[in-house]
Amino acid sequence: MGDVFQECMDHCVEVAKKAGEMIREALRSDISVMQKSSPVDLVTETDQKVEQLIIASIKEKFPTHSFIGEESVAAGAPSVLTDNPTWIIDPIDGTTNFVHRFPFVSVSIGFAVKKEIEFGMVYSCIEDKMYTARKGKGAFCNGVPIKVSGQEDINQSMVLTEMGFKKDPEHFQTMLANIRTILTIPVHGIRSPGSAAINMCLVACGSADAYYHMGIHCWDMAGGAAVVTEAGGVIMDISGGPFDLMSRRLIVASSKVVAERIARAVTEFDVGRDDV
Ligand code: IPD
Ligand code: CA
Repeated sequence: MGDVFQECMDHCVEVAKKAGEMIREALRSDISVMQKSSPVDLVTETDQKVEQLIIASIKEKFPTHSFIGEESVAAGAPSVLTDNPTWIIDPIDGTTNFVHRFPFVSVSIGFAVKKEIEFGMVYSCIEDKMYTARKGKGAFCNGVPIKVSGQEDINQSMVLTEMGFKKDPEHFQTMLANIRTILTIPVHGIRSPGSAAINMCLVACGSADAYYHMGIHCWDMAGGAAVVTEAGGVIMDISGGPFDLMSRRLIVASSKVVAERIARAVTEFDVGRDDV
């Protein structure tokens, strides 16, 4: 069975490279933007075409596998994680960045078996950085091993989060209050690169020490979760409890102590789940 997973992972990297080429090509032409659930929830034809390319290519090779893809779910497909080998796909993570040609745009794919992530891949396709990780075998960027910073002092930490998205007044106030609370701990700084998957990889390679967010989806988290875990990072729920891929919330950090400090600082708000 192990070799089959390696075959899946090799195929994943190949198809992600093709997807990245498609995204870079699209950036050279006009981008026509559509709205999904709100004026700040954007999608483009490229998101849809890239997802179709990835799913068609995987289906051809592994016809019995299941899929959870952002654009398929937007079109009505179920978002339920079963025990069957499942590819969890975000064709473009950082669509708003893509629309603005802000250079943090990724293809994110996680592969789960019996609801456990077996491997993950994040391709930051403008930077041409391919992050890969397989359970128990370490994390890599373009084939070179990566490790978290190991930072244990929150006061010396660089923290990543998202500045927007939930625009209803209560969530918005809580999101801003959380940023203020973290800044005044104090930490070295807060940054918001705009792609959850890349944020997780930045923690994985030691460029940032933590990332927290409420309101993202399993396809934003699955690829990066494998990378950051295999790089020696800690991943947990925003409450400090165990990480749940379908819960739409997470903290990742360079150490348990930094993750737990963020969990204590952050006020939660209800974001629902991916599987209900
Ligand atoms: C978004 C990005 C962003 C995160 C949002 C996601 P998308 O993904 O990952 O960083 O804050 O919650 O929805 O829509 O560009 O795939
Ligand atoms: Ca997306």
